Amino acid sequence: MASSSFETRDGFSSKFGVIAAAAGSAVGLGNIWRFPYITGENGGGAFLLMYLFFVLAIGIPVMLSEFVIGRRAQSNALNSFRVLSPGSSWWLIGLMGIIAAFVILSFYSTVAGWTLEYIVQAVKGGFAGKSIEQLNSDFALFSSGSIMPVVWQLVFMLLTAGVVMAGIQKGIEKYTKILMPLLLLLIIVICVRSVSLPGADKGLRFLFVPDFSKITLQSMLMALGQAAFSLSIGMGALITYGSYIRKNTPLLGSSIQIASADTLIAVLSGVMVFPALMAMGENPVGGPGLVFVSLPKIFQAMPGGYVFAIIFFILLSVAALTSTISVLEVVVAYMKDRFKISRIKACILSATAISLLGVFCTLSFGPLKEYTLFGMTMFDLMNYLSANVFLTFGALFIILYTGWKLGKANFLDEIRQGGKVSAPVAAVLIFIIRYIAPVAVGAVAIGAFFIDGLI
Ligand code: TRP
Repeated sequence: MASSSFETRDGFSSKFGVIAAAAGSAVGLGNIWRFPYITGENGGGAFLLMYLFFVLAIGIPVMLSEFVIGRRAQSNALNSFRVLSPGSSWWLIGLMGIIAAFVILSFYSTVAGWTLEYIVQAVKGGFAGKSIEQLNSDFALFSSGSIMPVVWQLVFMLLTAGVVMAGIQKGIEKYTKILMPLLLLLIIVICVRSVSLPGADKGLRFLFVPDFSKITLQSMLMALGQAAFSLSIGMGALITYGSYIRKNTPLLGSSIQIASADTLIAVLSGVMVFPALMAMGENPVGGPGLVFVSLPKIFQAMPGGYVFAIIFFILLSVAALTSTISVLEVVVAYMKDRFKISRIKACILSATAISLLGVFCTLSFGPLKEYTLFGMTMFDLMNYLSANVFLTFGALFIILYTGWKLGKANFLDEIRQGGKVSAPVAAVLIFIIRYIAPVAVGAVAIGAFFIDGLI
């Protein structure tokens, strides 16, 4: 039943290759666009604290589980469960992951499209001399249009499909290795400017000093969903990547490195945005337009800001691209194995279907604004459902699978291939995977949905 053997699957060429590709998947709009505005809306410091807890208690264990499942099964997100547990229903996790991929890409490509528009605006010098109000209304005007946002979204989907068609090795690894460190460097430069603005301390306090009265079941669910979204877990993307990881790569160490890099970039994004924003007397609650308004404002205040703005939005687009390719890869890897069609065909079919759904998300800022469900536009609904429903429950089921179905011996055998894991570390890991992580995710997800009645 194993659809393909290790030899016939693409492999990453080096240990750094897969770390880079998985980190490329993790680091994206989730860190730079979504983290700041969700943190802003959910109370700052207290939210950050919950976020960090979820990365440690759930993010790393689930990431590791996905790698283990994929590398052991040597198959895609859905079939891996069939390979490892034939005759059971656990493959439904994979099915949910494929649906999640559609949901995520549909709205993610909207925002990715915006980043392309902002490259053009940066080149045109379109931010110069504008007040926050003007930048705000520029963003609102652009995003509510019905032509350009759709065009950019489709361009982005084409780029994504193009890279995925080229295949894993050449497609993913090459770009990520150079560009992600560059992005980190640029973010640090922007952070330095942001925190040195007069009045920046207010923003730092907002981000780092927790106000515990802000903790609610709803904000806990948002923190959990954001952690899953940012780390690319809960959907099987990392199961698919896991199947490409060589046996000599240490999975635990890699997971910790990827999660650390991802979390560092998210926190630094907060440091970029909030001090600058609050130094300008603005409210931390800014919605999906937050970085598209606050960052142009910081670039105005930077020597060389014109050039930095261009480079930043280019790198942000690349970061988004290394994420979208990992989402599309889930669907393509599945379709290719399942229907025995070529990578190219699978790519065209899935990218087309996702783009169709995506256009509705994009238009929900303008012409389709009035069409809501549960009080949310199409974009808001997909955004909410992806992180807080699909990925949260996906993470819960994946951790339950690893802890209670895969078997301790299988799990430990897999993580010990390519890396040393001592007995005490293994015991702690097993304890977290069996008890802490499922109880934490279960309590928050079930509590928020069924007690708070969110949906
Ligand atoms: N983690 C990415 C980001 O932060 C988004 C993403 C890419 C993702 N692949 C994923 C989220 C798989 C969940 C599952 O931008």
